[in-house]
Amino acid sequence: MDKSRLRCESLADKVMDAREAAQFIKPGMTVGMSGFTPSGYAKAIPLELARRAEEGEDLQLTVLTGASVGPEIDEDMVKAGAVARRYPYQTNSTIRKAINEGKVKYVDMHLSHSSQQIKAGFLGKVDVAVIEACAITEDGNIVPTTSVGNSNIYVEAADKVIVEINTTQPLELEGIHDIYNLDLPPHRKPIELTNVQGRVGKPYIPCDPEKIVAVVECDIPDKTRSVAPVDENSRKISKNLIEFLSKEVEAGRLPKNLLPLQSGVGSVANAVLAGLDDSPFDHLTVYSEVLQDSVINLIKCGKVDFASGTSFTLSPEMNENFAKELPSFKDKVVLRPQEISNNPGIARRLGVIAMNTALEVDIYGNVNSTHISGVKLMNGIGGSGDFTRGGQLSIFTTVSTAKKGAISSIVPYVSHTDHTEHDTMIIVTEQGVADLRGLDPVERAHAIIENCAHPDYKDQLNDYLNRAIQESKGQHTPHILSEVFSWYDRLEKTGTMKESKDQ
Ligand code: COA
Repeated sequence: MDKSRLRCESLADKVMDAREAAQFIKPGMTVGMSGFTPSGYAKAIPLELARRAEEGEDLQLTVLTGASVGPEIDEDMVKAGAVARRYPYQTNSTIRKAINEGKVKYVDMHLSHSSQQIKAGFLGKVDVAVIEACAITEDGNIVPTTSVGNSNIYVEAADKVIVEINTTQPLELEGIHDIYNLDLPPHRKPIELTNVQGRVGKPYIPCDPEKIVAVVECDIPDKTRSVAPVDENSRKISKNLIEFLSKEVEAGRLPKNLLPLQSGVGSVANAVLAGLDDSPFDHLTVYSEVLQDSVINLIKCGKVDFASGTSFTLSPEMNENFAKELPSFKDKVVLRPQEISNNPGIARRLGVIAMNTALEVDIYGNVNSTHISGVKLMNGIGGSGDFTRGGQLSIFTTVSTAKKGAISSIVPYVSHTDHTEHDTMIIVTEQGVADLRGLDPVERAHAIIENCAHPDYKDQLNDYLNRAIQESKGQHTPHILSEVFSWYDRLEKTGTMKESKDQ
């Protein structure tokens, strides 16, 4: 193995192939793997585990990661039946199907919670950590690659550590990470981070080399996906959002360069950030979890001065020049553990503008981001709750209808609640913006229906609201509870939430 990548001499005799290294993982174990989005995740060991399961070994593993990961874990291992339990987030259609069929047990968690719950032992003992690295230092410390996620937590918590040195990941990544470990209460100290650029930790994951039982060379690249082209609705949402932010600046409620931006995942979220390219704002900063193509482009064109995250999630096209361009923006980005990137206390301190995506929003501002029609898991809450509750301004975006207009994304009562009316301040659709700050429930309902609902559904929503107001006789949050889910019944029976005249 290249000495610039494996610099700790005492580990030379731990170099082995993936097949041999994977033998440290036994049936029923809990394995903490690196990875946050399809970036920086373990690959060679998961493929070996998939092979063993395919050959009939009943592995029944609990697999912990930072967030979603690549197909070697959430497809290959799942298809082979190696995964019994999975935390704390996923986005892959194979594992999503297995979860919705009850074949894999999944616990959907706030990503900032996952770190401390693992450390505190709430999720059981982590037996083995499998961490992708671009290098191991002279002292055995681990230099992560394109994500940090929970890797530092797994290295600390596990009995044994397997390191996959990935030769496709540029060594230039070294220095980009800022790894800071939080103690558990009552020993926790303040995190001395007062701006987006701040550094409080080390450029590597501290690791006692005695803990490293295997070092495996791997040349499988991150399997990232192309970004969906920005469609008309996303463009309109982005425009509405930027107009709203401009008005906040005019009103003196935000500084000219805004506050640190957090942006969620998905096509709308990427489009919203991409829209800033054409905005009046300069010297922006980003304090988020995932740094997508849009952030890198905003850095390159000089709109964003600095971005902090826990993972680069770059399209294959962007990744192609990543290594070459890395030195030029190395002083403009930092990757931190998700316990720090998603820390609600830091989001509150920095005054983050949280911009996340909803599947549906109800007339009072409760948000469902995770469960289609209340029952079918989509992805998970991810970091949206960390930033929404912690931030200075919480914004949710959604297209006003789904499935070619058959579904209204504005409903009387969300079928599953991820973010409550207490957390949501601003709702943005392609129709407009509802500013809910300071409004009572009925005022909120009017603002959301008027500004955000699709015209095809406004009458239906107003009809529900008016009857609810009448029936509730002045109660604080008017509802007709026997009726709130009738929209989903209608969807199931007729294929649309739209009321037909003959019903
Ligand atoms: N009812 C039923 N289905 C709906 C729906 C609704 N109200 N709204 C959207 N959908 C469907 C879409 O039709 C699409 O289905 P398809 O996959 O069959 O085409 C799917 O849900 C995804 O919708 P899309 O509009 O493509 O969403 P997106 O890519 O912008 O992602 C979320 C939206 C909510 C799924 C995504 O942002 C998410 O997982 N958020 C939660 C986690 C999060 O916020 N993480 C970031 C924190 S930093």
